[in-house]
Amino acid sequence: MGYQVRRAQPADAPAIAAVARETWAATYRGIIPEEVQRAVLPQWYAEERLARAAESGQSAFFVAEAEAGEVVGFAQAGHREEAGDAELWRFYVLPDHQRKGIGRQLLQACLDALHAQGPVSRLFVQVEAENEGGRRAYEALGFTYVREYPDELLGHVTQMWEMCLEPAVLRPRAEEA
Ligand SMILES: CC(C)(COP(=O)(O)OP(=O)(O)OC[C@H]1O[C@@H](n2cnc3c(N)ncnc32)[C@H](O)[C@@H]1OP(=O)(O)O)[C@@H](O)C(=O)NCCC(=O)NCCS
Repeated sequence: MGYQVRRAQPADAPAIAAVARETWAATYRGIIPEEVQRAVLPQWYAEERLARAAESGQSAFFVAEAEAGEVVGFAQAGHREEAGDAELWRFYVLPDHQRKGIGRQLLQACLDALHAQGPVSRLFVQVEAENEGGRRAYEALGFTYVREYPDELLGHVTQMWEMCLEPAVLRPRAEEA
């Protein structure tokens, strides 16, 4: 199946929120309680907020769509205050479409857009320590462990890993390396 990565548009907001709900449920089962997900998602993925972010173009915000045009994944990143540092804030691909190269394409698009705004030497990400699939994906893309710390989400505490891609250039795919 062919996928196309393009800039997120305000009209993508409902589809992005739907991808987040489905992918969170699969990813964080047993890690973030369902009631916490149900409380947090409508805030973090409020459609007006997503639409405003897509409209402003300030962040590197991309979606991947399948041939039929449906949104199956998204990534959003932005520069940190510290010059040369950036953060990958959101990175989700629907379970049925994972491990087909979409994440790599989304991340490359984010990096290109960030580089176009200013130099990027380090790209940070925060990932749940128990999210082994996510951690493995980041490692395959070239991110390395920086530190571990506890984080609280509506009273629920989990361990987080901060990881960093440094220099912020993607590692080639395993079979090409
Ligand atoms: C992380 C995620 C966005 C990556 O997107 P993707 O489309 O699956 O990524 P790709 O297919 O481009 O894979 C990139 C690399 O990661 C590896 N990878 C992806 N998922 C993996 C997993 N679960 N376990 C091990 N390796 C994995 C791939 O093998 C690939 O390596 P390669 O190119 O050297 O072969 C996606 O897997 C996802 O949504 N996961 C669940 C949600 C999540 O954890 N998001 C991050 C939250 S911080």
